[in-house]
Amino acid sequence: SSASAHTHENFLQCLSHYPNTTSNISQLIYTQTNSSYASVLNFSIRNPRFSSSSTPKPLVIITPVQLSHIQAAINCSRKHGMQVRIRSGGHDYEGLSYVSQVPFVVIDLINLRSITVDVDERTAWIESGATIGEVYYRIAEKIRTLGFPAGVCPTVGVGGHFGGGGYGTMLRKYGLSADNVIDAHIVDVNGRFLDRQSMGEDLFWAIRGGGGASFGVVLAWKVKLVPVPSTVTVFSVNRNLEQNVTQLVHRWQYVADKFDEDLFVRIILQSLNASAEGKRTIQASFNSLFLGGVDRLIPLMEKSFPELGLTKEDCTEMSWIESTLYFNGFSSGESLDVLLDRTPSGLIPYKAKSDYVKEPIPEEGLEGLWEKMHEETAGRAILIFSPYGGKMDEISESEIPFPHRVGNIYKIQHLIYWEEEGDEAAQRHISWMRKLYAYMTPYVSKNPRAAYMNYRDLDIGTNRNGITSYTESSIWGIKYFKNNFNRLVHVKTMVDPTNFFRHEQSVPPLSSRV
Ligand code: FDA
Repeated sequence: SSASAHTHENFLQCLSHYPNTTSNISQLIYTQTNSSYASVLNFSIRNPRFSSSSTPKPLVIITPVQLSHIQAAINCSRKHGMQVRIRSGGHDYEGLSYVSQVPFVVIDLINLRSITVDVDERTAWIESGATIGEVYYRIAEKIRTLGFPAGVCPTVGVGGHFGGGGYGTMLRKYGLSADNVIDAHIVDVNGRFLDRQSMGEDLFWAIRGGGGASFGVVLAWKVKLVPVPSTVTVFSVNRNLEQNVTQLVHRWQYVADKFDEDLFVRIILQSLNASAEGKRTIQASFNSLFLGGVDRLIPLMEKSFPELGLTKEDCTEMSWIESTLYFNGFSSGESLDVLLDRTPSGLIPYKAKSDYVKEPIPEEGLEGLWEKMHEETAGRAILIFSPYGGKMDEISESEIPFPHRVGNIYKIQHLIYWEEEGDEAAQRHISWMRKLYAYMTPYVSKNPRAAYMNYRDLDIGTNRNGITSYTESSIWGIKYFKNNFNRLVHVKTMVDPTNFFRHEQSVPPLSSRV
């Protein structure tokens, strides 16, 4: 509309008048007529569901290289009523870092990705635009006996990941990424630059798991590095229906959260063709990182989970940094440089959901789940069971906004990928996913049915654009954050009372009408 074109012009004018120090902001602004606009926008889109011609696109993308550019973007957006979306790695499952239904601007932190590792202090300062692969690489470049507990896929961005929790194969030993953050730099709604001390403990609490995008632009994070042994052991052991998969998965639920905390054994489940006639089977891959050598691992497994029949031959010893490649399917001997590659291969559309399991699912329940998985043959359905326990049991529910601690045996990630193009196919696969989720209801956490914020799922509820009421947002808020949602609302009311930083699942301030 002409009104929005006007706003847009005024916004650009505002930016151009903004005083700069070193780099000229005009070279970091991409409007829709700029020849690089599409490549800058698409570079960090990780779910092609949100890159079609019908997906709403930002009026402007800004790629700041310094603090003053972020301050300019916030101040001018506020002044001219533009909504802001903040993007680091672009992995948001629902595309919220680069899609909005109202005219908007993307602040893309791709250029702010420096990482400074302090080996003596065992800490690092990490800018939000870095990926976790870059984090692993920069630590390993300096020292092989320190690491950091974060996710499996190296292209995941630090900004969203740390802001929403962040977990991977060291979760049982060291907790989440957000549990290991000790300082942060943020730009707030007034364009102020704040560190832990100046932002205060309430805001510092909120951004470690409560989703940064409700509170400001998080520029950088200071983290504690964690010790890793010089030798770790990995294995992936596959079992199918002919190999007692149901009994094995059932049994795993009784041991996976009680193992020694050096041991992380997750399960990746898929329904596969078992014969040319179309008979289906279920394959479970028991996929593991052990923070130690194989000679200590085998007796541990023989004692706690002999049913799997793990042998020395199933296991490979390597360094911790090599294990980050292993979990991404790279062969041994691959250069660590792949950790720096920000472009994942073969992007295909997907939908995901999450669940928490507090009581083992009985064998009949698992068998019913296999049936449901067999129904989806056109797409690729994957379920990932990630064990909790260990360190996760020791951290209190209110330590940071992420509340899923003691009492959870494991977390499920439900995923469906499909190759077909178009809306009809997408709706068909998403509707299958919703049926699977309905099937799981009796077996998973209730009141609330918990969910992991970093596996963003708009099915569980959204803010209506314009009016955000506490009652409405608490429906999804309590699933992600349990009682911590109330404290998040309190912090939001203090730091952003006019609800400038908002999106479909942002934390609302009390009685906001925007
Ligand atoms: P993106 O840039 O899309 O941001 C996500 C959200 O955070 C948005 O709301 C955004 O506005 C906000 N945000 C981003 N940067 C911000 C900043 N600097 N300040 C304030 N707000 C900011 N998770 C996990 O725990 N373990 C895992 O192993 C994996 N693996 C994985 C693999 C793949 C292929 C995908 C697509 C996703 C995962 N995830 C994951 C989920 C991942 O942790 C989650 O999507 C993160 O939010 C992604 O962070 P990005 O910065 O990449 O996303």
